[in-house]
Amino acid sequence: MAIRFVLPLLLVLGGIAWGGAPLVGSLVERWFRTDVEMRSQLVFNSIQESVTGLVLAKADRKIDALFKHITQDERLLALGLCTPDGHLTQRSTAWPKALACPPAPALDHAFTVQHIDGGPVLVATFALAADNTYLGRLVILHDLRFIERRSDSAELYLAGFLALLGLGAAGVTVVVARLTLRGWIKAVRKGLAGGSDGRDDSALSPDVEPLVREMRKILRNLDAPRVLAEAIRLDWGPDSLRSVLRDELPGAEVMVISNREPYIHNLEDGKVMLQRPASGLVTALEPIMRACGGTWIAHGSGSADQSMVDENDHLQVPPEAPAYTLRRLWLSDEEQDGYYYGFANEGMWPLCHIAFVRPTFRASDWEQYVAVNRKFADAIIAEARTPNPVVLVQDYHFALLPKMVRERLPEATIITFWHIPWPNPEVFSICPWKEEILSGLLGSSILGFHTQFHCINFLDSVDRFLESHIDREHSTVRAGNSTTLVRPYPISIEWPPTALASQPPADECCESVRRKYGIPIGTKLAVGVERFDYTKGIADRFHAVGSLLEAHPEWIGRFTLLQVAAPTRSRLAAYRETQVEAETAAAAVNERFGRNGWVPIILVPKHHEPEDVFTLFRAADVCLVSSLHDGMNLVAKEFVASRDDEDGVLVLSTFAGASRELQEALIVNPYDIRSMGEALHMGLSMPAEQRRERMRLMREMVSEHNIYFWAGRMLLDAARMRKRRNIEYSIEAMTRSAIKAGDS
Ligand code: F6P
Repeated sequence: MAIRFVLPLLLVLGGIAWGGAPLVGSLVERWFRTDVEMRSQLVFNSIQESVTGLVLAKADRKIDALFKHITQDERLLALGLCTPDGHLTQRSTAWPKALACPPAPALDHAFTVQHIDGGPVLVATFALAADNTYLGRLVILHDLRFIERRSDSAELYLAGFLALLGLGAAGVTVVVARLTLRGWIKAVRKGLAGGSDGRDDSALSPDVEPLVREMRKILRNLDAPRVLAEAIRLDWGPDSLRSVLRDELPGAEVMVISNREPYIHNLEDGKVMLQRPASGLVTALEPIMRACGGTWIAHGSGSADQSMVDENDHLQVPPEAPAYTLRRLWLSDEEQDGYYYGFANEGMWPLCHIAFVRPTFRASDWEQYVAVNRKFADAIIAEARTPNPVVLVQDYHFALLPKMVRERLPEATIITFWHIPWPNPEVFSICPWKEEILSGLLGSSILGFHTQFHCINFLDSVDRFLESHIDREHSTVRAGNSTTLVRPYPISIEWPPTALASQPPADECCESVRRKYGIPIGTKLAVGVERFDYTKGIADRFHAVGSLLEAHPEWIGRFTLLQVAAPTRSRLAAYRETQVEAETAAAAVNERFGRNGWVPIILVPKHHEPEDVFTLFRAADVCLVSSLHDGMNLVAKEFVASRDDEDGVLVLSTFAGASRELQEALIVNPYDIRSMGEALHMGLSMPAEQRRERMRLMREMVSEHNIYFWAGRMLLDAARMRKRRNIEYSIEAMTRSAIKAGDS
């Protein structure tokens, strides 16, 4: 019986071994090649996002570092990056000299095998793109020599294995084989189920132990690219910003120019009081200056400001831990009226915001605007210690400043950020000094807006009103001798915010805020935190509360909106009227729905310091941001940052730049009062799990895209431009000296 079974078996196995080994060899080759293709695809999937980000940020060094990190895998031979027109711009060290950039793949990827330096290499080419723009291709090379070796071994093993199997077959019955197989599978499954690291393998049968180990290794390798991709994600913080400055802009002197100062000293009841202004710009820029140091030049607007500075009008701030110099600049009443209240806030502000307030342009205001811009330019020149500082010009108060500084410090890197929207060319054409405004801004090396939409509006305005060369592909404008990069850099906040550090737990905030404002515990609370500005839609949100209570009377007596609003620019009629309009709307809603001592709206027209604002945010069930038009709106981001308990609902206007990023908010049209009321109802009734999911996603967004990321991207772009300009300067200098030598 055994002979009858063994003999034919041996014959068959021998035949298979003789004829089948080459077939098995090529099969093995094919499997391994598919496996390597899969590995290439996995590597690409895991680094695609990072590489795209780094290519967009033009962070060549980081790409190098990333390539170095990834090519530590022994089979991964090299990585290379090609431009859309086929130039190999970056490659890891082992990239073969003979290999040029492979052609662009017809689809999004292509695999070819090339023989390089006597061995086969898998060339995997992947297209890189962002927002439908083709950025080039990433090429991943794998050494395939190991396949040849393995397929030879596979043939050998197969022949040996079959011979052994034939010899051993006499003692093995089909039943035993089945039982053994079942036992094996069970043991392997058990071995794999226990995880992968640091476990006790003593319970494993010695038969399956090597197999289980091998399979664990394969599983770990499959996971590796994901882990790697997570490790290389950059967490932006003060240190990363400092290292960008140190590595990319070595020795650069940083200067910030804004109208509003970060610290104001006021005289109150004979005492000097320090105030931190209600300004998104200050909220955003202050942590950057704390991280980088330098000089911040701003209008000294506080009643006790003069008494706090030294003979150079300098003050070291923050007062509790000085990190940079505040240079205060003094403006006369006449200058403030014309430049700040007049041209900036009665002209440019309503021009750029669609809030249906008519812009007013007066020639006398314009004259002051020009004069004050010049005054700030003089201060920059006086403060600059180097010929090429990095000057960060902030906002619509200083449209002329970039050009004025460029004329006097041609090597300066001027980064201008426009914190408010930019209108379309038709609206912009209302401004009688539109050409001057445009060419003033084009003195900047980089001009940033919050959104792509505002960049397009700006480029269209330049196109319409100024002689220039616009390169829409690279988003640059060349006017006269200078080139300006126009790009969106959505502004953000410090993460984690300083004001959060001193906060009690959220439930304590809930209690203390309710106690302070006489709101019964258990009452749902919505908060609004604003300056009294007509762009913020404060009266509109009060009408929405009326609509909520009308449509859902179950909230009567069970809900309160606490609105704090800092008076602002009150010398202007439009601002005084905004406050009156809001107070009237609140009174009307309170009169209609209030009862038994309960009112639906509590309006506190007073400035609040950041810590108090954070306590309000943490006490709230809902935060209501109903701007009619807003560049970004950092209140929305601060609310999200304040909620480390991952609770709370954000109701956010679609006309605030923040709605592009905080998509998990309840997005509303503030002009549609009824739907805003419904959004409030939805926010107040939202189940806890959904609140948490939305808040988590929004927190992830703000923590990653924080203020250091904002500044870091601009500085990296600036560093690149600066290096390019340095090359241009040295070529110019060489040309000049060659001409001189020829003349003499
Ligand atoms: O958004 C533009 C801006 O300049 C912000 O910086 C700030 O939120 C606000 O206006 C402050 O206005 P002001 O400095 O006139 O009080």
